[in-house]
Amino acid sequence: MTDRYAVFGNPIGHSKSPRIHRAFAEQTAQSLRYDAIEAPEIDFAGAWQAFVDAGGRGANVTVPFKQDAYALAQVLSPRAQLAGAVNTLMVGRDGQIYGDTTDGVGLVRDLQAHAAPLEGARVLLLGAGGASRGVIEPLLEAGIASLTIANRTVAKAEELALLFAAKGEVAGCGFDVVEGPFDLVINATSASLAGDLPPLPDETFAAEGLAYDMMYAAEPTVFLRWAAEHGARTVDGLGMLIEQAAESFWLWRQVRPDTAPLRELLRREL
Ligand code: ATR
Repeated sequence: MTDRYAVFGNPIGHSKSPRIHRAFAEQTAQSLRYDAIEAPEIDFAGAWQAFVDAGGRGANVTVPFKQDAYALAQVLSPRAQLAGAVNTLMVGRDGQIYGDTTDGVGLVRDLQAHAAPLEGARVLLLGAGGASRGVIEPLLEAGIASLTIANRTVAKAEELALLFAAKGEVAGCGFDVVEGPFDLVINATSASLAGDLPPLPDETFAAEGLAYDMMYAAEPTVFLRWAAEHGARTVDGLGMLIEQAAESFWLWRQVRPDTAPLRELLRREL
């Protein structure tokens, strides 16, 4: 039986994951099948089990199932435990379900690919939801000097900062009291989806600062447009999507695909 992989989400129609993983499989000569599966919102576990019964070996998990995948996994990686979410599932040789998250490492790899300031950098992270939580530890491990988490709901930023306080210099606050300048500002809010801009002070960016939006689109997001107007270099989240996929692929197949060709291809198709 062909090894099967899939991305689970709801909705899932526009997912680029099948495209990415099929290209990885072709590039590395791995024989596998990769599908997009729209699981019912109330029965992720049932959809996963049906998939495993049909030869499923592993999956990517996206909105709204990252917490369901976390609950379903029998063995969690330390980084998934810290993130409180799972975006990669795998059936082990022992039949156990392993859960991991590759979002954080995907972000850091993409930042490195863009020569972003990391070592000793002052970093501002916008948002305090699941997307933020998953990238905090990898950022701290990349050697940044300090992390400020700013959020519309201030208490959530403070809670998140407390959770990671033992791992580095982390503070939480509201947008109105953000004190720059920052070498790197990462937008992990979903504000871009609504065309909203987190209300940041004009002097947010350091000279040669970099603005990163986890969202991506054919046109720059409102956050990246604002950042460019304030002198920052800008990068969107398409590369993070590809890098987190490459890390999942490596977990499943122990083969690391080359992400560069996919970056160019998907950018052209946006
Ligand atoms: P995700 O898993 O993508 O992080 P989430 O947990 O729903 O999703 O979190 C969304 C984040 O975007 C939150 O930090 C949210 O701020 P609140 O905690 O105050 O709700 C932030 N967000 C969403 N819409 C926003 C907007 N229009 N302006 C600013 N922040 C916004």
